[in-house]
Amino acid sequence: MTDLGTDNTLDEVKKRCFNCKKCRLSETRHNVVFDDGIPNSKLMLIGEAPGYYEDMQGKPFVGKAGQLLDRIFASVGLSREKDVYICNTVKCRPPENRNPLPDEKEACLEYLQAQIDIIKPKIILLCGNVAVQSILGNAGGITKIRGKWFDGGEMVHGAKLMPIFHPSYLLRNDTREKGGPKWLMWQDIQEIRKKYDSL
Ligand code: URA
Ligand code: URA
Repeated sequence: MTDLGTDNTLDEVKKRCFNCKKCRLSETRHNVVFDDGIPNSKLMLIGEAPGYYEDMQGKPFVGKAGQLLDRIFASVGLSREKDVYICNTVKCRPPENRNPLPDEKEACLEYLQAQIDIIKPKIILLCGNVAVQSILGNAGGITKIRGKWFDGGEMVHGAKLMPIFHPSYLLRNDTREKGGPKWLMWQDIQEIRKKYDSL
Protein backbone atom coordinates (compact mmCIF):
# COMPACT_ATOMS: atom_id res chain seq x y z
CA MET A 1 0.00 0.00 0.00
CA THR A 2 1.21 3.51 -0.74
CA ASP A 3 2.33 5.34 2.36
CA LEU A 4 0.76 8.76 2.16
CA GLY A 5 2.31 9.91 5.41
CA THR A 6 0.39 11.40 8.29
CA ASP A 7 0.30 15.08 7.36
CA ASN A 8 -2.25 14.78 4.57
CA THR A 9 -5.39 16.77 5.18
CA LEU A 10 -8.69 15.46 3.96
CA ASP A 11 -8.78 18.24 1.35
CA GLU A 12 -5.38 17.20 0.00
CA VAL A 13 -6.40 13.56 -0.26
CA LYS A 14 -9.67 14.59 -1.89
CA LYS A 15 -7.87 16.72 -4.45
CA ARG A 16 -5.55 13.84 -5.34
CA CYS A 17 -8.52 11.49 -5.58
CA PHE A 18 -10.40 13.90 -7.87
CA ASN A 19 -7.49 13.74 -10.33
CA CYS A 20 -7.01 9.98 -10.00
CA LYS A 21 -6.54 7.89 -13.11
CA LYS A 22 -5.16 4.79 -11.44
CA CYS A 23 -7.85 2.48 -12.75
CA ARG A 24 -10.29 2.14 -15.67
CA LEU A 25 -13.24 3.50 -13.66
CA SER A 26 -11.75 6.98 -14.15
CA GLU A 27 -12.56 6.70 -17.86
CA THR A 28 -16.32 6.32 -17.40
CA ARG A 29 -17.05 8.31 -14.22
CA HIS A 30 -18.86 11.65 -14.29
CA ASN A 31 -17.74 12.54 -10.78
CA VAL A 32 -15.44 11.14 -8.14
CA VAL A 33 -17.59 10.37 -5.09
CA PHE A 34 -15.30 11.05 -2.15
CA ASP A 35 -17.38 11.53 0.99
CA ASP A 36 -20.24 13.19 2.81
CA GLY A 37 -21.09 14.00 6.40
CA ILE A 38 -18.98 15.07 9.35
CA PRO A 39 -15.18 14.70 9.07
CA ASN A 40 -14.54 14.69 12.84
CA SER A 41 -17.14 12.04 13.52
CA LYS A 42 -16.55 9.04 15.75
CA LEU A 43 -18.82 7.02 13.45
CA MET A 44 -17.83 6.18 9.87
CA LEU A 45 -19.78 4.15 7.33
CA ILE A 46 -18.04 2.48 4.40
CA GLY A 47 -20.28 1.43 1.51
CA GLU A 48 -19.51 -0.28 -1.74
CA ALA A 49 -19.24 2.02 -4.76
CA PRO A 50 -21.22 4.92 -6.26
CA GLY A 51 -24.30 4.16 -8.33
CA TYR A 52 -25.93 6.27 -11.04
CA TYR A 53 -27.19 9.14 -8.86
CA GLU A 54 -24.04 9.25 -6.78
CA ASP A 55 -21.91 9.44 -9.94
CA MET A 56 -24.10 12.24 -11.29
CA GLN A 57 -24.12 14.27 -8.05
CA GLY A 58 -20.65 13.44 -6.73
CA LYS A 59 -22.11 12.49 -3.35
CA PRO A 60 -22.37 9.05 -1.69
CA PHE A 61 -25.69 7.36 -0.87
CA VAL A 62 -28.10 9.83 -2.47
CA GLY A 63 -30.18 7.30 -4.47
CA LYS A 64 -32.87 4.99 -3.11
CA ALA A 65 -30.46 2.95 -1.01
CA GLY A 66 -29.02 6.14 0.42
CA GLN A 67 -32.44 7.45 1.36
CA LEU A 68 -33.12 4.21 3.21
CA LEU A 69 -29.75 4.50 4.94
CA ASP A 70 -30.71 8.00 6.13
CA ARG A 71 -33.97 6.60 7.55
CA ILE A 72 -32.09 3.82 9.34
CA PHE A 73 -29.78 6.35 10.99
CA ALA A 74 -32.69 8.67 11.76
CA SER A 75 -34.52 5.87 13.60
CA VAL A 76 -31.89 6.17 16.34
CA GLY A 77 -31.45 9.93 16.09
CA LEU A 78 -28.30 9.95 13.94
CA SER A 79 -27.73 11.86 10.70
CA ARG A 80 -25.00 12.60 8.19
CA GLU A 81 -25.51 16.31 8.83
CA LYS A 82 -24.60 15.98 12.51
CA ASP A 83 -23.05 12.63 13.38
CA VAL A 84 -21.78 10.39 10.62
CA TYR A 85 -18.95 10.34 8.07
CA ILE A 86 -19.89 8.42 4.91
CA CYS A 87 -17.69 7.10 2.12
CA ASN A 88 -17.29 4.10 -0.17
CA THR A 89 -14.73 1.38 -0.75
CA VAL A 90 -14.38 2.53 -4.37
CA LYS A 91 -14.81 6.20 -5.27
CA CYS A 92 -15.89 5.88 -8.92
CA ARG A 93 -18.96 4.19 -10.33
CA PRO A 94 -18.43 0.76 -11.91
CA PRO A 95 -20.29 0.54 -15.27
CA GLU A 96 -23.80 -0.94 -14.92
CA ASN A 97 -23.20 -1.01 -11.14
CA ARG A 98 -21.21 -4.23 -11.40
CA ASN A 99 -19.12 -5.16 -8.36
CA PRO A 100 -15.76 -3.41 -8.29
CA LEU A 101 -12.96 -5.66 -9.57
CA PRO A 102 -10.02 -6.63 -7.35
CA ASP A 103 -7.56 -4.30 -9.10
CA GLU A 104 -10.04 -1.40 -8.84
CA LYS A 105 -10.42 -1.97 -5.09
CA GLU A 106 -6.65 -2.25 -4.76
CA ALA A 107 -6.11 1.01 -6.67
CA CYS A 108 -8.64 2.85 -4.49
CA LEU A 109 -7.57 1.47 -1.11
CA GLU A 110 -5.03 4.23 -0.52
CA TYR A 111 -7.83 6.81 -0.45
CA LEU A 112 -9.97 4.78 1.94
CA GLN A 113 -6.96 4.17 4.16
CA ALA A 114 -6.16 7.90 4.16
CA GLN A 115 -9.76 8.69 5.13
CA ILE A 116 -9.54 6.25 8.05
CA ASP A 117 -6.15 7.63 9.09
CA ILE A 118 -7.38 11.22 9.08
CA ILE A 119 -10.85 10.70 10.59
CA LYS A 120 -9.76 8.05 13.11
CA PRO A 121 -13.35 7.03 13.86
CA LYS A 122 -14.10 4.95 16.94
CA ILE A 123 -16.74 2.92 15.10
CA ILE A 124 -16.66 1.80 11.47
CA LEU A 125 -19.74 0.26 9.84
CA LEU A 126 -18.90 -2.06 6.95
CA CYS A 127 -21.94 -1.81 4.76
CA GLY A 128 -22.29 -4.92 2.57
CA ASN A 129 -19.88 -7.61 1.42
CA VAL A 130 -17.56 -5.40 -0.64
CA ALA A 131 -16.67 -3.21 2.36
CA VAL A 132 -16.35 -6.27 4.62
CA GLN A 133 -13.90 -7.95 2.26
CA SER A 134 -11.77 -4.83 1.87
CA ILE A 135 -11.30 -4.32 5.61
CA LEU A 136 -11.78 -7.77 7.17
CA GLY A 137 -10.73 -10.04 4.30
CA ASN A 138 -12.39 -13.42 4.44
CA ALA A 139 -14.16 -12.99 7.76
CA GLY A 140 -17.26 -14.66 6.31
CA GLY A 141 -20.38 -13.69 4.41
CA ILE A 142 -22.42 -10.74 5.60
CA THR A 143 -25.44 -12.80 6.65
CA LYS A 144 -23.24 -14.70 9.13
CA ILE A 145 -21.22 -11.83 10.57
CA ARG A 146 -23.56 -8.82 10.48
CA GLY A 147 -24.33 -7.31 13.85
CA LYS A 148 -21.12 -8.60 15.42
CA TRP A 149 -18.32 -6.38 16.69
CA PHE A 150 -14.83 -6.96 15.29
CA ASP A 151 -11.51 -5.52 16.44
CA GLY A 152 -9.93 -4.04 13.35
CA GLY A 153 -6.41 -3.60 14.67
CA GLU A 154 -3.79 -1.23 13.33
CA MET A 155 -5.30 -0.54 9.93
CA VAL A 156 -8.26 1.15 11.63
CA HIS A 157 -6.43 2.51 14.69
CA GLY A 158 -8.29 0.20 17.06
CA ALA A 159 -11.76 1.17 15.89
CA LYS A 160 -14.68 -1.17 16.58
CA LEU A 161 -16.01 -2.61 13.34
CA MET A 162 -19.48 -3.88 12.60
CA PRO A 163 -20.60 -5.44 9.32
CA ILE A 164 -24.16 -4.46 8.44
CA PHE A 165 -26.45 -5.29 5.54
CA HIS A 166 -26.36 -3.02 2.53
CA PRO A 167 -29.55 -0.94 2.22
CA SER A 168 -29.96 -2.08 -1.40
CA TYR A 169 -30.20 -5.63 -0.07
CA LEU A 170 -32.98 -4.47 2.26
CA LEU A 171 -34.76 -2.87 -0.70
CA ARG A 172 -34.72 -6.23 -2.47
CA ASN A 173 -35.87 -8.10 0.66
CA ASP A 174 -38.58 -5.86 1.92
CA THR A 175 -40.26 -8.10 4.51
CA ARG A 176 -40.46 -6.65 8.05
CA GLU A 177 -40.92 -10.13 9.50
CA LYS A 178 -39.17 -10.88 12.77
CA GLY A 179 -35.73 -12.32 11.95
CA GLY A 180 -35.78 -10.94 8.39
CA PRO A 181 -33.12 -8.58 6.98
CA LYS A 182 -34.95 -5.35 7.87
CA TRP A 183 -35.72 -6.52 11.38
CA LEU A 184 -32.07 -7.49 11.84
CA MET A 185 -30.93 -4.09 10.58
CA TRP A 186 -33.12 -2.35 13.13
CA GLN A 187 -31.55 -4.49 15.89
CA ASP A 188 -28.07 -3.67 14.60
CA ILE A 189 -28.61 0.08 14.42
CA GLN A 190 -29.81 0.12 18.03
CA GLU A 191 -26.68 -1.75 19.13
CA ILE A 192 -24.60 0.75 17.11
CA ARG A 193 -26.33 3.68 18.84
CA LYS A 194 -25.56 2.14 22.25
CA LYS A 195 -21.88 1.73 21.40
CA TYR A 196 -21.79 5.26 19.94
CA ASP A 197 -23.09 6.67 23.22
CA SER A 198 -20.59 4.65 25.27
CA LEU A 199 -17.46 5.77 23.36
N1 URA B 1 -24.40 2.10 -2.71
C1 URA B 1 -23.18 2.26 -2.13
O1 URA B 1 -22.58 1.33 -1.67
N2 URA B 1 -22.68 3.48 -2.08
C2 URA B 1 -23.29 4.55 -2.55
O2 URA B 1 -22.74 5.65 -2.44
C3 URA B 1 -24.55 4.36 -3.15
C4 URA B 1 -25.08 3.13 -3.22
N1 URA C 1 -25.24 -9.57 0.09
C1 URA C 1 -24.54 -8.43 0.00
O1 URA C 1 -23.63 -8.29 -0.81
N2 URA C 1 -24.83 -7.43 0.85
C2 URA C 1 -25.78 -7.52 1.77
O2 URA C 1 -25.98 -6.58 2.50
C3 URA C 1 -26.50 -8.72 1.86
C4 URA C 1 -26.22 -9.74 1.01
